[in-house]
Amino acid sequence: MYSEEVMDHFKNPRNCGKMDNADAIGEVGNPTCGDVMRIYLKIENNIIKDIKFETFGCVAAISTSSILTEMVKGMSLEEASKVKKDDIIKGLGNLPTVKIHCSVLATEALGEAVYNYYKEKGIEIPEDLKNKHDHLKKRS
Ligand code: FES
Repeated sequence: MYSEEVMDHFKNPRNCGKMDNADAIGEVGNPTCGDVMRIYLKIENNIIKDIKFETFGCVAAISTSSILTEMVKGMSLEEASKVKKDDIIKGLGNLPTVKIHCSVLATEALGEAVYNYYKEKGIEIPEDLKNKHDHLKKRS
């Protein structure tokens, strides 16, 4: 059912755990399955210097969080917030169709972390990030 890459990230998750002194935290829940994902960011000069995640969820949720952290480390906040679920699925080889929604959780949690960082620092929040945040608030 799952690709080798998915199982590898599930069994050996990268950047998993809590981060002390994070510059930004984003958390989202999936109202359907109840899974929750939290992303921690360390940011320097607008670049993601470090990232960690905690996911209370399924195999796909853990694997997609793990690969997302590898993909966006070293990216600017703008680049990172544009990573889509399709990029994650491609990185994992594939995901079963019924599990594709799980990959959205990772991008949503990252988007929330970036949103919270911009807000706290008084930086203008890009429209698409703001719309996603408003959508998540309505959903919860
Ligand atoms: Fe909940 Fe996968 S079933 S995120």
